[in-house]
Amino acid sequence: MKPRCIWAAAFALGGCAGRQSVLAPAGEEASTLHGLLGLTLIVCGIAYLLVLVFLGAALWRSRLRLNHEPALAATPDDRRLSLGLAGWAGVMTIGIFLLAAASFLVDRTLARHDEAAAGDIRITGHQWWWRIEYRNPAGTGWIETANELHLPQGRPTRIDIRAADVIHSFWIPNLSGKIDMIPGRANHLTLTPHRLGWVRGQCAEFCGLQHARMALDVKVETPHDYAAWLSGQARPAAAASAPEAERGLTLITTGTCGSCHSIRGTSAQARAAPDLTHVAARRSLAAGTLPMTREALMGWITNPQALKPGAEMPASTLPPADMLAIATYLEGLR
Ligand code: CUA
Repeated sequence: MKPRCIWAAAFALGGCAGRQSVLAPAGEEASTLHGLLGLTLIVCGIAYLLVLVFLGAALWRSRLRLNHEPALAATPDDRRLSLGLAGWAGVMTIGIFLLAAASFLVDRTLARHDEAAAGDIRITGHQWWWRIEYRNPAGTGWIETANELHLPQGRPTRIDIRAADVIHSFWIPNLSGKIDMIPGRANHLTLTPHRLGWVRGQCAEFCGLQHARMALDVKVETPHDYAAWLSGQARPAAAASAPEAERGLTLITTGTCGSCHSIRGTSAQARAAPDLTHVAARRSLAAGTLPMTREALMGWITNPQALKPGAEMPASTLPPADMLAIATYLEGLR
Protein backbone atom coordinates (compact mmCIF):
# COMPACT_ATOMS: atom_id res chain seq x y z
CA MET A 1 0.00 0.00 0.00
CA LYS A 2 1.32 3.46 -0.91
CA PRO A 3 2.06 5.73 2.13
CA ARG A 4 -0.59 8.17 0.86
CA CYS A 5 -3.12 5.33 0.85
CA ILE A 6 -2.25 4.39 4.45
CA TRP A 7 -3.05 7.97 5.47
CA ALA A 8 -6.21 7.83 3.41
CA ALA A 9 -7.17 4.58 5.15
CA ALA A 10 -6.42 6.02 8.58
CA PHE A 11 -8.56 9.11 8.07
CA ALA A 12 -11.15 7.78 5.59
CA LEU A 13 -10.04 10.35 3.06
CA GLY A 14 -10.74 10.01 -0.63
CA GLY A 15 -8.20 10.71 -3.34
CA CYS A 16 -6.52 7.34 -3.06
CA ALA A 17 -7.64 5.86 -6.33
CA GLY A 18 -6.76 2.23 -5.60
CA ARG A 19 -8.27 -0.42 -7.86
CA GLN A 20 -10.27 -2.01 -5.08
CA SER A 21 -11.01 0.32 -2.20
CA VAL A 22 -14.01 1.69 -0.33
CA LEU A 23 -11.93 4.85 0.14
CA ALA A 24 -11.97 5.69 -3.57
CA PRO A 25 -15.69 5.76 -4.38
CA ALA A 26 -16.45 5.53 -8.10
CA GLY A 27 -20.24 5.48 -7.86
CA GLU A 28 -23.17 7.29 -6.21
CA GLU A 29 -23.90 4.50 -3.70
CA ALA A 30 -20.24 4.19 -2.65
CA SER A 31 -19.96 8.00 -2.28
CA THR A 32 -23.04 8.05 -0.04
CA LEU A 33 -21.61 5.27 2.14
CA HIS A 34 -18.18 6.95 2.15
CA GLY A 35 -19.81 10.12 3.56
CA LEU A 36 -21.40 8.07 6.35
CA LEU A 37 -18.04 6.43 7.11
CA GLY A 38 -16.38 9.87 7.34
CA LEU A 39 -19.06 11.18 9.73
CA THR A 40 -18.82 8.02 11.89
CA LEU A 41 -15.05 8.42 12.14
CA ILE A 42 -15.35 12.11 13.09
CA VAL A 43 -17.97 11.45 15.81
CA CYS A 44 -16.10 8.43 17.20
CA GLY A 45 -12.77 10.31 16.95
CA ILE A 46 -14.15 13.21 19.03
CA ALA A 47 -15.56 10.72 21.61
CA TYR A 48 -12.18 9.00 21.82
CA LEU A 49 -10.29 12.28 22.21
CA LEU A 50 -12.67 13.38 25.00
CA VAL A 51 -12.16 10.06 26.81
CA LEU A 52 -8.39 10.62 26.61
CA VAL A 53 -8.74 14.19 27.92
CA PHE A 54 -10.82 13.04 30.90
CA LEU A 55 -8.45 10.16 31.58
CA GLY A 56 -5.51 12.58 31.52
CA ALA A 57 -7.33 14.98 33.86
CA ALA A 58 -8.14 12.14 36.30
CA LEU A 59 -4.50 11.01 36.34
CA TRP A 60 -3.30 14.57 36.87
CA ARG A 61 -5.74 15.05 39.79
CA SER A 62 -4.72 11.80 41.47
CA ARG A 63 -1.08 12.81 41.13
CA LEU A 64 -1.78 16.17 42.78
CA ARG A 65 -3.65 14.36 45.55
CA LEU A 66 -0.69 12.08 46.14
CA ASN A 67 1.50 15.19 46.43
CA HIS A 68 -1.04 16.72 48.91
CA GLU A 69 -1.65 19.74 46.72
CA PRO A 70 -3.95 22.02 48.73
CA ALA A 71 -5.64 23.26 45.51
CA LEU A 72 -7.56 20.04 45.22
CA ALA A 73 -9.29 20.34 48.51
CA ALA A 74 -11.46 23.14 47.15
CA THR A 75 -14.84 22.37 45.59
CA PRO A 76 -14.72 24.60 42.45
CA ASP A 77 -12.64 21.91 40.77
CA ASP A 78 -15.38 19.32 41.36
CA ARG A 79 -17.96 21.68 39.95
CA ARG A 80 -15.82 22.10 36.86
CA LEU A 81 -15.55 18.34 36.60
CA SER A 82 -19.34 17.92 36.84
CA LEU A 83 -19.81 20.58 34.18
CA GLY A 84 -17.23 18.88 31.97
CA LEU A 85 -18.96 15.50 32.34
CA ALA A 86 -22.36 17.01 31.55
CA GLY A 87 -20.86 18.68 28.46
CA TRP A 88 -19.30 15.37 27.42
CA ALA A 89 -22.63 13.55 27.79
CA GLY A 90 -24.27 16.33 25.74
CA VAL A 91 -21.68 16.07 22.95
CA MET A 92 -22.09 12.27 22.89
CA THR A 93 -25.88 12.51 22.72
CA ILE A 94 -25.63 14.93 19.78
CA GLY A 95 -23.09 12.62 18.12
CA ILE A 96 -25.29 9.54 18.48
CA PHE A 97 -28.32 11.46 17.23
CA LEU A 98 -26.28 12.69 14.21
CA LEU A 99 -25.17 9.14 13.38
CA ALA A 100 -28.71 7.77 13.67
CA ALA A 101 -30.10 10.56 11.44
CA ALA A 102 -27.30 10.19 8.87
CA SER A 103 -27.73 6.42 8.78
CA PHE A 104 -31.49 6.82 8.18
CA LEU A 105 -30.90 9.38 5.39
CA VAL A 106 -28.28 7.14 3.70
CA ASP A 107 -30.74 4.24 3.79
CA ARG A 108 -33.46 6.41 2.19
CA THR A 109 -31.04 7.71 -0.47
CA LEU A 110 -30.02 4.16 -1.44
CA ALA A 111 -33.70 3.13 -1.58
CA ARG A 112 -34.43 6.07 -3.94
CA HIS A 113 -31.61 4.92 -6.28
CA ASP A 114 -33.19 1.49 -6.18
CA GLU A 115 -36.59 2.77 -7.31
CA ALA A 116 -35.04 4.69 -10.23
CA ALA A 117 -33.02 1.75 -11.49
CA ALA A 118 -33.67 -0.47 -14.49
CA GLY A 119 -33.32 -4.21 -13.82
CA ASP A 120 -31.13 -5.14 -16.74
CA ILE A 121 -28.57 -7.49 -15.23
CA ARG A 122 -28.60 -10.66 -13.16
CA ILE A 123 -25.57 -12.25 -11.59
CA THR A 124 -25.29 -15.74 -10.13
CA GLY A 125 -22.44 -16.82 -7.88
CA HIS A 126 -20.90 -20.23 -8.57
CA GLN A 127 -17.92 -22.00 -7.01
CA TRP A 128 -15.82 -20.02 -8.13
CA TRP A 129 -17.01 -17.79 -10.91
CA TRP A 130 -19.77 -15.32 -11.78
CA ARG A 131 -22.52 -15.99 -14.32
CA ILE A 132 -23.59 -12.61 -15.71
CA GLU A 133 -26.72 -12.13 -17.81
CA TYR A 134 -27.89 -8.96 -19.55
CA ARG A 135 -31.39 -8.32 -20.78
CA ASN A 136 -31.16 -8.24 -24.57
CA PRO A 137 -31.92 -4.63 -25.58
CA ALA A 138 -32.66 -5.66 -29.17
CA GLY A 139 -35.11 -8.42 -28.48
CA THR A 140 -36.22 -10.96 -25.96
CA GLY A 141 -34.22 -13.12 -23.62
CA TRP A 142 -30.87 -12.67 -21.93
CA ILE A 143 -27.30 -12.46 -23.13
CA GLU A 144 -24.93 -14.55 -21.07
CA THR A 145 -21.29 -13.86 -20.25
CA ALA A 146 -19.05 -14.49 -17.23
CA ASN A 147 -16.60 -12.91 -14.80
CA GLU A 148 -16.58 -9.45 -16.37
CA LEU A 149 -19.27 -6.91 -15.59
CA HIS A 150 -19.83 -3.85 -17.78
CA LEU A 151 -21.89 -0.95 -16.47
CA PRO A 152 -23.07 2.31 -18.04
CA GLN A 153 -21.80 5.50 -16.42
CA GLY A 154 -24.32 7.67 -14.57
CA ARG A 155 -27.30 5.34 -14.98
CA PRO A 156 -28.70 3.41 -12.00
CA THR A 157 -28.59 -0.29 -12.84
CA ARG A 158 -30.41 -2.81 -10.68
CA ILE A 159 -28.65 -6.15 -10.42
CA ASP A 160 -30.54 -9.28 -9.39
CA ILE A 161 -28.27 -11.41 -7.26
CA ARG A 162 -28.47 -15.17 -6.77
CA ALA A 163 -26.28 -18.15 -5.91
CA ALA A 164 -26.18 -21.58 -7.52
CA ASP A 165 -24.45 -23.65 -4.86
CA VAL A 166 -23.26 -22.09 -1.59
CA ILE A 167 -23.48 -18.62 -0.05
CA HIS A 168 -21.25 -16.06 -1.79
CA SER A 169 -21.15 -12.29 -1.29
CA PHE A 170 -21.18 -9.78 -4.12
CA TRP A 171 -18.91 -6.82 -3.42
CA ILE A 172 -17.45 -4.11 -5.62
CA PRO A 173 -15.96 -1.84 -2.93
CA ASN A 174 -15.52 1.19 -5.23
CA LEU A 175 -19.18 1.07 -6.26
CA SER A 176 -21.28 -0.03 -3.29
CA GLY A 177 -21.60 -2.06 -0.11
CA LYS A 178 -21.73 -5.83 -0.23
CA ILE A 179 -24.75 -8.11 -0.47
CA ASP A 180 -25.03 -11.86 0.17
CA MET A 181 -25.75 -14.28 -2.67
CA ILE A 182 -27.93 -16.97 -1.13
CA PRO A 183 -29.08 -20.18 -2.86
CA GLY A 184 -32.86 -20.15 -3.34
CA ARG A 185 -33.23 -16.45 -2.61
CA ALA A 186 -33.08 -13.44 -4.93
CA ASN A 187 -31.40 -10.29 -3.60
CA HIS A 188 -30.75 -7.11 -5.49
CA LEU A 189 -28.37 -4.18 -5.50
CA THR A 190 -28.37 -0.90 -7.43
CA LEU A 191 -25.15 0.54 -8.83
CA THR A 192 -24.78 4.04 -10.29
CA PRO A 193 -21.11 4.34 -11.29
CA HIS A 194 -19.80 7.84 -12.03
CA ARG A 195 -16.12 7.26 -12.80
CA LEU A 196 -15.11 5.64 -16.08
CA GLY A 197 -12.63 2.76 -16.12
CA TRP A 198 -11.90 -0.51 -14.41
CA VAL A 199 -12.56 -1.43 -10.80
CA ARG A 200 -12.29 -4.80 -9.11
CA GLY A 201 -14.93 -6.79 -7.30
CA GLN A 202 -14.40 -9.75 -5.01
CA CYS A 203 -16.50 -12.47 -3.41
CA ALA A 204 -16.67 -11.39 0.22
CA GLU A 205 -17.98 -14.56 1.89
CA PHE A 206 -15.80 -17.62 2.37
CA CYS A 207 -17.27 -20.09 -0.14
CA GLY A 208 -14.70 -22.88 -0.37
CA LEU A 209 -11.16 -23.60 -1.37
CA GLN A 210 -10.87 -20.99 -4.14
CA HIS A 211 -12.86 -18.19 -2.50
CA ALA A 212 -9.83 -15.90 -2.88
CA ARG A 213 -9.77 -16.51 -6.64
CA MET A 214 -13.35 -15.40 -7.17
CA ALA A 215 -12.70 -11.90 -8.45
CA LEU A 216 -14.80 -9.82 -10.80
CA ASP A 217 -13.47 -7.34 -13.37
CA VAL A 218 -15.81 -4.37 -13.67
CA LYS A 219 -15.67 -1.83 -16.48
CA VAL A 220 -17.62 1.42 -16.33
CA GLU A 221 -18.26 2.84 -19.80
CA THR A 222 -20.11 5.76 -21.35
CA PRO A 223 -23.71 4.74 -22.22
CA HIS A 224 -22.72 4.80 -25.92
CA ASP A 225 -19.72 2.46 -25.42
CA TYR A 226 -21.80 0.25 -23.15
CA ALA A 227 -24.52 -0.11 -25.78
CA ALA A 228 -21.88 -0.95 -28.41
CA TRP A 229 -20.27 -3.52 -26.12
CA LEU A 230 -23.65 -5.10 -25.31
CA SER A 231 -24.65 -5.41 -28.95
CA GLY A 232 -21.26 -7.07 -29.58
CA GLN A 233 -21.94 -9.54 -26.77
CA ALA A 234 -25.37 -10.31 -28.22
CA ARG A 235 -23.79 -11.58 -31.44
CA PRO A 236 -22.95 -15.28 -31.79
CA ALA A 237 -19.33 -16.41 -31.67
CA ALA A 238 -16.97 -15.36 -34.46
CA ALA A 239 -16.40 -17.99 -37.14
CA ALA A 240 -13.11 -19.89 -37.00
CA SER A 241 -10.68 -17.90 -39.13
CA ALA A 242 -8.13 -20.61 -40.00
CA PRO A 243 -8.00 -24.42 -40.38
CA GLU A 244 -6.22 -24.69 -37.00
CA ALA A 245 -9.04 -22.77 -35.29
CA GLU A 246 -11.63 -24.79 -37.20
CA ARG A 247 -10.04 -27.95 -35.80
CA GLY A 248 -10.13 -26.40 -32.31
CA LEU A 249 -13.88 -25.79 -32.63
CA THR A 250 -14.46 -29.39 -33.72
CA LEU A 251 -12.47 -30.63 -30.73
CA ILE A 252 -14.57 -28.48 -28.41
CA THR A 253 -17.94 -29.51 -29.79
CA THR A 254 -17.14 -33.22 -30.14
CA GLY A 255 -15.03 -33.51 -26.99
CA THR A 256 -15.63 -32.82 -23.31
CA CYS A 257 -15.43 -28.96 -23.42
CA GLY A 258 -18.86 -28.71 -25.03
CA SER A 259 -20.52 -30.77 -22.33
CA CYS A 260 -20.01 -27.97 -19.78
CA HIS A 261 -19.47 -24.75 -21.77
CA SER A 262 -21.65 -22.84 -24.17
CA ILE A 263 -20.48 -21.03 -27.31
CA ARG A 264 -23.43 -19.32 -28.99
CA GLY A 265 -23.61 -20.08 -32.70
CA THR A 266 -22.07 -23.54 -32.27
CA SER A 267 -23.44 -26.83 -31.00
CA ALA A 268 -21.76 -26.29 -27.59
CA GLN A 269 -24.78 -25.29 -25.50
CA ALA A 270 -24.16 -26.54 -21.94
CA ARG A 271 -24.53 -24.14 -19.02
CA ALA A 272 -22.59 -25.84 -16.23
CA ALA A 273 -19.53 -23.64 -16.72
CA PRO A 274 -18.79 -20.08 -17.94
CA ASP A 275 -20.11 -19.07 -21.36
CA LEU A 276 -17.20 -18.78 -23.83
CA THR A 277 -18.91 -16.95 -26.72
CA HIS A 278 -16.64 -13.89 -26.40
CA VAL A 279 -14.12 -15.25 -23.90
CA ALA A 280 -11.03 -13.68 -25.48
CA ALA A 281 -12.56 -10.20 -25.22
CA ARG A 282 -12.42 -10.48 -21.43
CA ARG A 283 -9.65 -9.00 -19.41
CA SER A 284 -8.87 -12.07 -17.33
CA LEU A 285 -9.41 -15.79 -17.16
CA ALA A 286 -10.90 -18.02 -14.44
CA ALA A 287 -12.49 -15.15 -12.43
CA GLY A 288 -9.44 -12.92 -12.20
CA THR A 289 -6.94 -15.76 -11.72
CA LEU A 290 -4.87 -15.13 -14.88
CA PRO A 291 -4.51 -12.34 -17.45
CA MET A 292 -6.16 -13.16 -20.80
CA THR A 293 -3.19 -14.22 -22.91
CA ARG A 294 -2.53 -17.13 -25.25
CA GLU A 295 -0.12 -18.64 -22.72
CA ALA A 296 -2.64 -18.36 -19.89
CA LEU A 297 -5.35 -19.98 -22.05
CA MET A 298 -3.01 -22.85 -22.87
CA GLY A 299 -1.98 -23.27 -19.23
CA TRP A 300 -5.57 -23.16 -18.04
CA ILE A 301 -6.99 -25.73 -20.48
CA THR A 302 -3.96 -28.00 -19.95
CA ASN A 303 -4.12 -28.18 -16.18
CA PRO A 304 -6.64 -25.94 -14.40
CA GLN A 305 -6.11 -27.86 -11.15
CA ALA A 306 -2.53 -26.59 -10.96
CA LEU A 307 -3.76 -22.99 -11.16
CA LYS A 308 -7.03 -23.20 -9.21
CA PRO A 309 -7.11 -26.44 -7.21
CA GLY A 310 -10.63 -27.64 -6.54
CA ALA A 311 -12.21 -25.89 -9.53
CA GLU A 312 -14.79 -28.00 -11.38
CA MET A 313 -12.77 -28.07 -14.61
CA PRO A 314 -10.71 -31.27 -14.94
CA ALA A 315 -7.22 -31.48 -16.45
CA SER A 316 -7.15 -32.24 -20.16
CA THR A 317 -5.93 -35.54 -21.53
CA LEU A 318 -5.64 -34.24 -25.13
CA PRO A 319 -2.27 -34.18 -26.88
CA PRO A 320 -0.51 -30.75 -26.91
CA ALA A 321 -1.26 -30.18 -30.63
CA ASP A 322 -5.02 -30.49 -29.95
CA MET A 323 -4.85 -28.12 -27.00
CA LEU A 324 -3.00 -25.63 -29.14
CA ALA A 325 -5.81 -25.86 -31.70
CA ILE A 326 -8.43 -25.25 -28.98
CA ALA A 327 -6.46 -22.27 -27.63
CA THR A 328 -6.15 -20.89 -31.18
CA TYR A 329 -9.92 -21.09 -31.63
CA LEU A 330 -10.70 -19.58 -28.21
CA GLU A 331 -8.26 -16.73 -28.84
CA GLY A 332 -10.37 -15.68 -31.81
CA LEU A 333 -13.59 -15.40 -29.71
CA ARG A 334 -13.64 -11.64 -29.29
CU1 CUA B 1 -17.67 -17.05 -3.59
CU2 CUA B 1 -16.31 -16.54 -1.70
